[in-house]
Amino acid sequence: MTQFRNIVILTGAGVSAESGIDTFRDGGGLWERHRVDDVATPEAFARDPGLVQRFYDMRRAAIQEKVPNAAHMALARLDQAWPKKGMGRTVTLVTQNVDDLHERAGASVIHMHGEHLKAWCTLCDTRSHWRGPLIDGPPCPACGARALRPDVVWFGEMPYHMDRIHAALRSADLFVSIGTSGAVYPAAGFVQSARDLGARTLELNLEPSQGSRWFHETRLGPASELVPEWVEEMLAG
Ligand code: OAD
Repeated sequence: MTQFRNIVILTGAGVSAESGIDTFRDGGGLWERHRVDDVATPEAFARDPGLVQRFYDMRRAAIQEKVPNAAHMALARLDQAWPKKGMGRTVTLVTQNVDDLHERAGASVIHMHGEHLKAWCTLCDTRSHWRGPLIDGPPCPACGARALRPDVVWFGEMPYHMDRIHAALRSADLFVSIGTSGAVYPAAGFVQSARDLGARTLELNLEPSQGSRWFHETRLGPASELVPEWVEEMLAG
């Protein structure tokens, strides 16, 4: 494993599942109980902002009661220890998750689908840290306008930080996907990009993802077991 220098890790809802945060597409997942078109598109927000705000208010409150699990802790350990193993080694952790469990575990993370704990003012474009509800239309801390929305990426919107992510993929020699179904692009396409660019590709997931065939190696099991094992391998090598 020490032949690797630059690692890009993509995480999805499966990494937070054992912290008690619902995934989207597993049996009983969020998208079985709520229609994407009702709560996760700009059109839904324009049509019924109250319904959308209530949905995200509930999720924002719920994640604050959860704590990082062994997978988050192991990734934070890798993030901190890997650069110390040799000059120029990098770990880029990219998450589709909008919870804050990676950073609470101590990792630095790129949130490509936004963050539950931020509100975005659609008038002045400021993003503010936010823990409470948005349903009552509180004023933007920067401009005072009552125009805040959840700072999460909805279907039909462009994910964040794509330039940084593509730059990291270009220099990656190992791409690792953890706890994601591979159903949502552009994240689902990162494995192909990384592989085309010469990286080795590894999947850690409860079951084979939709893009499983693109991975050189797939390990199946719960993230809280697979991720610490893999991190130990990386740091031991
Ligand atoms: P999904 O719900 O689509 O997939 C979760 C994946 O995690 C599945 O492949 C599960 O098998 C796996 N999984 C579940 N529990 C696990 C565990 N304990 N250990 C390891 N793996 C486990 O979630 P995502 O792939 O993250 O986007 O979904 C991608 C995007 O779709 C989300 O970011 C969200 C959603 O719609 C937006 O809202 C824009």
